[in-house]
Amino acid sequence: MSKTYFIRTHGCQMNEHDSERIAGMLEQNGYALASSPETADLVLFNTCAIRENADNRLYGTLGHMKALKEERPELRIAVGGCQVQKDKALVLEKAPWVDVAFGTFSVAELPALLQRREETGVPAFEFAEQTETFPSALPSRREDPFHAWVSVSVGCDNSCTFCIVPFVRGRQVSRRMGEILDEVRALVDDGVVEVTLLGQNVNTYGRDLDGKPLFAELLRALDGIDGLRRVRFTSPHPHDFTPDVIDAMASSPTVCEHIHFPLQSGSDAVLRRMRRSYRAERYLSWLEQMRDAIPGLAVSTDIIVGFPGETDDDFEDTMRVVERARFDSAYTFRYSTRPNTEAGSMPDQVPEHVVAERFQRLVELQEAISLQRNKAMRGETFEVFVEGPSRKDPSRMTTRTRTNKIVHVPADGLSAGMFVRARITGAHPHHLDGELV
Ligand code: 5AD
Ligand code: SF4
Repeated sequence: MSKTYFIRTHGCQMNEHDSERIAGMLEQNGYALASSPETADLVLFNTCAIRENADNRLYGTLGHMKALKEERPELRIAVGGCQVQKDKALVLEKAPWVDVAFGTFSVAELPALLQRREETGVPAFEFAEQTETFPSALPSRREDPFHAWVSVSVGCDNSCTFCIVPFVRGRQVSRRMGEILDEVRALVDDGVVEVTLLGQNVNTYGRDLDGKPLFAELLRALDGIDGLRRVRFTSPHPHDFTPDVIDAMASSPTVCEHIHFPLQSGSDAVLRRMRRSYRAERYLSWLEQMRDAIPGLAVSTDIIVGFPGETDDDFEDTMRVVERARFDSAYTFRYSTRPNTEAGSMPDQVPEHVVAERFQRLVELQEAISLQRNKAMRGETFEVFVEGPSRKDPSRMTTRTRTNKIVHVPADGLSAGMFVRARITGAHPHHLDGELV
């Protein structure tokens, strides 16, 4: 009987992408997917390091795995991803019952590490400091038959002072454009209708390649692929954003009318200390330019509350920018001190109760704006893609607009993979209700 595996993925889409490659490699090595960690022969955690609570959670979960392993000594536990790249051998010190540990640059080594663990009887690990194999070159087992993550680059050359990503994912390495296009064509042949391009900073795509292909060129080239219906990408950095990306979005029908555009703070003083080179007014003028060029554009963002030295006035600046920007949605984060970052050693860390209070106000403001924006969509009709039955109510289907909004519609006659038209009948901060037309 073949062995079974179960993967738990934390963090961002880059990790989701890596997990699909990990699953693909394991299946190529004879493993089959288990329905739960309790029944799997191999349980693998693909970890994140972006904020501190992720750290604590991992060691808690590994503690629970220890008990499982005492019951079933043949169980194998593997950990990979950003937190493992950050902690390296510390993972095995804190959780010596882990069998295999691998860093972000060592994904391709997993099968060899598993084998080494069996041969030696002791934990096997590898934490390379540079990618040998681009994860996209590995086999994949996709979670979704219609959607695929496609990485255009890994790593990041920026130096935002709060961020651990450059430390755990290294410098930017881009994939050749021809390789990306070939992958997308193959995916479309396989039934994929939507791709999300992934990179820590997609605007600087190609800067490290011969001929310096531009992200805008990539978007235009993808637009020519027959059968591909929707192209999304994440994330651009406001610093490197250029008008040609807006032009490419506006003139490429497959590129969706949605952009994730991380603001981080609305205070110029804080942006400076974050080493984010744009200023609030510049950011807002980019938004205006994008909305003028791309009718119906939806914008989402990331905002950090309580960056070291953030004063009441700084925070009020963020509130004002959020009011003016009218984001469709925002991911809001309490600042979290990360090792190996400049901000980690900055003075004036903001007290927790102050952060909590600001955070609450920001969330409330943005919820109100999200709701207003969603209410404005009522009565309008949109093309939606049917993803599958709603988790809460199986009599309804979860669908998605090009602008990345969730619309729940009656399930009758629908199945996953269909494009239909829906009229919006109800609005909530995080989703919409609709009916088919
Ligand atoms: N603390 C809080 N939020 C952070 N982010 C990145 N680093 C930190 C940190 N140290 C947020 C940023 C980024 C998103 C992916 O996570 O907003 O855009
Ligand atoms: Fe993604 Fe960053 Fe978390 Fe790594 S640390 S999984 S790159 S969010």
